[in-house]
Amino acid sequence: MSQNQEVELEINLFSPENMIDPYPVYKLLRDEEPVHYLRDMNLHVVTRYDLLRDVIKRTEEFSSKYDQFMGGAQMQMFNTLSDDQKAEAFKIAQGMIDIPPTMLTLDEPEHTRYRSLVSKLFTGGQVKKSEADVRAVIEENITAMKGKGRLDFMEAFAFPVPLEIISDRLGIPADKQSRDFFYEAATSAAAALKMAPVPPEQILIRMKTAVDLQKFLIRLVDECRQKPKDDMISILANSKLTEEEGRERDLTHGEILSVLNQFLVAGHETTASTFGWAMLVLCDNPDLEDQLRGDEKRIKTFVEEVLRFEAPVQGLPRVVTRDTDLGGYPLKKGDMLMLRYGAANRDERQFNEPDKINIHREKAGMQMAFGSGVHFCIGSPLARQELNIGFYELLSNFKNFQLDPTVGRPVADPSFILRALPELRVTYQDI
Ligand code: HEM
Repeated sequence: MSQNQEVELEINLFSPENMIDPYPVYKLLRDEEPVHYLRDMNLHVVTRYDLLRDVIKRTEEFSSKYDQFMGGAQMQMFNTLSDDQKAEAFKIAQGMIDIPPTMLTLDEPEHTRYRSLVSKLFTGGQVKKSEADVRAVIEENITAMKGKGRLDFMEAFAFPVPLEIISDRLGIPADKQSRDFFYEAATSAAAALKMAPVPPEQILIRMKTAVDLQKFLIRLVDECRQKPKDDMISILANSKLTEEEGRERDLTHGEILSVLNQFLVAGHETTASTFGWAMLVLCDNPDLEDQLRGDEKRIKTFVEEVLRFEAPVQGLPRVVTRDTDLGGYPLKKGDMLMLRYGAANRDERQFNEPDKINIHREKAGMQMAFGSGVHFCIGSPLARQELNIGFYELLSNFKNFQLDPTVGRPVADPSFILRALPELRVTYQDI
């Protein structure tokens, strides 16, 4: 159905109920209006698997230069500030280094130049090398869980594990002060992407923290340029970017911050969220534990299934670059699309019984939680490594994971982009 037709489905994807449980609405949209015009947001929401793939492939017609969308959301927040707060915000912003787009919000050929440089950080060799670090962090957090029997899994494991791993890989100094600051600043940066309403004072605190984080990272970049080490910041700081004319140059501070920012916001909360959803699936399906324990291959399928079932990045935008159509639905130059990975992953045209976790599903890796095409998640080998080793070790050390009966069922954060559980209280026993 086109946006010009008189009858449109009246759907508010932003209502708290639909953000907390979007799946019934996604099904309705896939069946009735797979490209749906969301008037309030001026967005065309795409929900069917085949159409998402089509959009992602047609990069010339559907651009990733959607900074304006994120900028618009930030502007809305800025407008909630009082005049004094706006003045304060301007002052803080003066201390900020400009961040140019790299990778996520660029198209070819600029995208390719940054992507091929950053891909050095995620080669098979690099990921293999990180295995010992990943295991060490997971073991440390598992040891801390021993004998407790009841805790918030998000706080005890799901949040700290990916954050400690990315901090080690980046080369954040291991002293307590640096780590405490970095954890707080990274959490604050990721919170900004949730696009949930925030009190004005909080906006100013976030801005200050973002400036401090930039200064902290730039100090490390400069140190690594003087004395390179074997970590991600050193590799980025000492890599050369090949310009269009073939000339090579160092990355600027802004470019390095842009890449690191993507690692922090795209890489941490997403992996943490998947740990949380996977634990909820275990609690909801008690017979899974015995089928998975000690079986690396099944655990891999389980992780893919969880990513399919609860895509941590529910959706991302694309911009239409010329008048065209998508599955017969007319689009105009400048229209903004919103791809819903969470809806495509439950498409019954692609997956049998999509609302069930099937640890024997063939081609479970066809799930779209990491996107596809040229922007396919560059950090997916690291995320998969963390999740696969994490659940192997959790199930080897503990049993009988259940939702804590003294607390209600956990509810997802109301967010349009990142889908995560703020807390997940469970009980379990040591093995
Ligand atoms: C379960 C965990 C993760 C999920 C669900 C996830 C999801 C995604 C998705 C959907 C995209 C595609 C964006 C698009 O098509 O526009 C993406 C891209 C990206 N991800 Fe991830 N991600 C995860 C983990 C990570 C990690 C661990 C890192 C880095 C440490 C990372 C860094 C990136 C970067 C840099 C991009 C941009 C790639 C490009 O534009 O070429 N992600 N991710």
